[in-house]
Amino acid sequence: MDYLKAQSVKSLNGIIKISGAKNASLPLIALTILSSEIVSLKNLPNVADIKTLLKLLSNLGAICKFHEDRVTVDTRSLHETKATYDIVKTMRASILVLGPILARFGHCEVSLPGGCAIGQRPINLHLKALEQMGAKIAIKAGYIEATAPDGLTGCNIIFDKITVTGTANIVMAAALAKGETTITNAAREPEVVQLCEVLSASGIEIEGIGTAILTIKGTAGKLIAIKEFSVIPDRIEAGTYLCAGAITKSQITLTSVEPKHLGAVLAKLEEMGNSFTITDYTITIHPAQEIKPVKIVTQEYPAFPTDMQAQFLTLATQANGVSIIEERLFENRFMHVSELQRMGADITLNGHTATVCGKTKLCGTDVMATDLRASSALVLAALVANGETNIHRIYHLDRGYDSLEKKLGNVGAKIQRLKE
Ligand code: EPZ
Repeated sequence: MDYLKAQSVKSLNGIIKISGAKNASLPLIALTILSSEIVSLKNLPNVADIKTLLKLLSNLGAICKFHEDRVTVDTRSLHETKATYDIVKTMRASILVLGPILARFGHCEVSLPGGCAIGQRPINLHLKALEQMGAKIAIKAGYIEATAPDGLTGCNIIFDKITVTGTANIVMAAALAKGETTITNAAREPEVVQLCEVLSASGIEIEGIGTAILTIKGTAGKLIAIKEFSVIPDRIEAGTYLCAGAITKSQITLTSVEPKHLGAVLAKLEEMGNSFTITDYTITIHPAQEIKPVKIVTQEYPAFPTDMQAQFLTLATQANGVSIIEERLFENRFMHVSELQRMGADITLNGHTATVCGKTKLCGTDVMATDLRASSALVLAALVANGETNIHRIYHLDRGYDSLEKKLGNVGAKIQRLKE
């Protein structure tokens, strides 16, 4: 297994190019299941989760080809409809193939994704919505067995909770359903917006894109000629590097970024004393010399994203004062706290709220990554900790960050990837 050896840095300086969004790429790869033609996907990030989902599609009979600047996926010869445990257990977002496979073939078996480090991660809302659309769902020996022999039928879906992949699953199912589907309380994340935009560009009538109420007119089973697209920039990767600039008090510039997807993150960084120069596709951070404490509550887009909570918690250890960070989406998304405490951070957990007393000196030591965003939070801590930090189990990091140590190395960080 690999681990990262990181030294503290005086400061960073330079340009970081942001990759395509992992969480936009995953539903868009699943969308190829609905395509009557070969689909060309541009700007996919080079991360493990993308490779995993492409492997799953290949196991089902799709032909995935990697070219210089794009991946092409041909699902015309797709013949399998079972997503097996061996793949699904490594990436719960595999659940995104459920809606498309069921809509196209009338039956589908997907291993129950199970929970993950950050929480139970139930999929009851996905299944309830598919049943409302006419599917029969059974859980047998750890698998979801879904059938809809006469195809799915559009209807009015109201999500009890906002669910990102739940919305994506039902949007894709609705695209091939008979009649019209309305989804109320839909997720508005940019990644869901792009899925809807690609479907719309491919001839599917969708109203309310970007709002909490989506209306989709289905093709009654006719496959869709999915148009070529380029994946939107990864707003969480971008936010992570802005935190790297803030915590090391460095001026760095992000390119190929979409500033309008980072409203809540930029606002919180401004509250902490940072300022920015922003153009259409770049953000330059002008760091605070004295970091101010902050209050954060994680909520659905466009509010502050849960995927940035761990990174801000690390940043808060360097603020002068007490910060309060409340995690409202996942029940166990503070596992980075114990590792930060081992580095010397002064953090008190009370249920879903972390109280961070700064500014604390962090000391480099051996730490263990526990989940994707916790990993990046530990990298941020290592940049300012005294001495050397070894971050173990970075397979978590590799799931969602494209060449993180190279990108930070290019702006002056001293991070080596070594073998245990
Ligand atoms: C997506 O996960 C993202 N993953 C997550 O990013 C992100 O943290 C999350 O949305 C919230 O923004 C992908 O897009 C691949 P949810 P998802 O369904 O769709 C509850 C990362 O770091 N819920 O929006 O699985 C659920 O328990 C990852 O890149 C149900 O109760 O999240 C949670 O409390 C981590 N029943 C809340 O809704 C359901 O059927 C939001 O979950 C579905 C969800």
